[in-house]
Amino acid sequence: DEALKDIAKRKGLRFGTAVGSGKNQFGDPAYRALVERECNIIVAENEMKWQALEPARDAMRFGPADAMLAWASDKGMAMRGHNLFWQAEKWLPAWIAKEDFGSEPRRGAERLMRKHVQTVCAHYGTRIQSWDVVNEAVDPADGKLRQNALTRPFGAAGEIEQIDLAFRLAREYAPHAQLVYNDYMRGDTGSAKHRAGVLAMLAELKKRGSPVQALGLQSHIGSWDESADRGKEDLLQWRRFLDEVTGMGYDLLITEFDVNDRRLPADIAQRDLGVAAAARDYLDLTLSYPRLRDFLLWGMADHISWLQTWDEAPRTDKLPMRPCPYDAQLRAKPLRQ
Ligand code: XIL
Repeated sequence: DEALKDIAKRKGLRFGTAVGSGKNQFGDPAYRALVERECNIIVAENEMKWQALEPARDAMRFGPADAMLAWASDKGMAMRGHNLFWQAEKWLPAWIAKEDFGSEPRRGAERLMRKHVQTVCAHYGTRIQSWDVVNEAVDPADGKLRQNALTRPFGAAGEIEQIDLAFRLAREYAPHAQLVYNDYMRGDTGSAKHRAGVLAMLAELKKRGSPVQALGLQSHIGSWDESADRGKEDLLQWRRFLDEVTGMGYDLLITEFDVNDRRLPADIAQRDLGVAAAARDYLDLTLSYPRLRDFLLWGMADHISWLQTWDEAPRTDKLPMRPCPYDAQLRAKPLRQ
């Protein structure tokens, strides 16, 4: 079969996946070979997150991500950076909440942000050409910007200022890089508030002249909750959303594609066809935007998918999920076609 990266290339796209450093991904030669064959771009599943790079204050740990980057450049694969700031409080390094920012907390938070962006961007230089600068800033429950230990020191309504600063710092220390805001914005009708919140934030950042260049569409599609059957109505909403985003001048990327199959039948053949059908509807529309040039999966094969252990939305029958184009034996599934 023709490699996915070659099929993508004919459409003017790059194709890739997230890779984790565990023994069943980066540590598995067969899985690595699959990635090398199919992909021309990768991203670290966890290894470039702040928590991973600086597990304790000033204790930088670049090893795992560096090993992956060395492999990627050896095999001629580009690598994206994910991510500089993850706005959900529980994904910030725990030590940040215990920081004493002193009598001028805003200055203290700004200093810490600058040090982080400077250290990480200086370490990677031009080897990382695209950064998820801010991840998941909008609370899907109400569309408002999330607060965390870094936004609070910025004072009332400081969230947008903290995000704006994040992008300005990234521009300063990674002047060559594409700067991306990354979020999930599931296409189901239930997440209308989420999408509205993202649009409002992107509009505000544009107004402020913040150097955001693209919106990363995580694209964890499929059935997450009762309202999440991506029917025709959902796709219409999704098109309207993408039209607004591109209308503001932002580029698009698919950054973390997979299909949650928790509401599809247990029968494997049926389930795999259902996954492929959901993917086709979503991708036909989303890949039709010329501003979209990168398509990355969040894992190539079912057994390594984060969804196997993500307890927010499990299958009620507890069967292993089948969200990826390859199965646990690295055999191609209908989604691959
Ligand atoms: C996930 C990883 O896959 C897991 O291994 C980790 O425990 C939690 O994070 N959105 C994102 C990714 O932006 O960073 C998340 O990755 C999946 C959802």
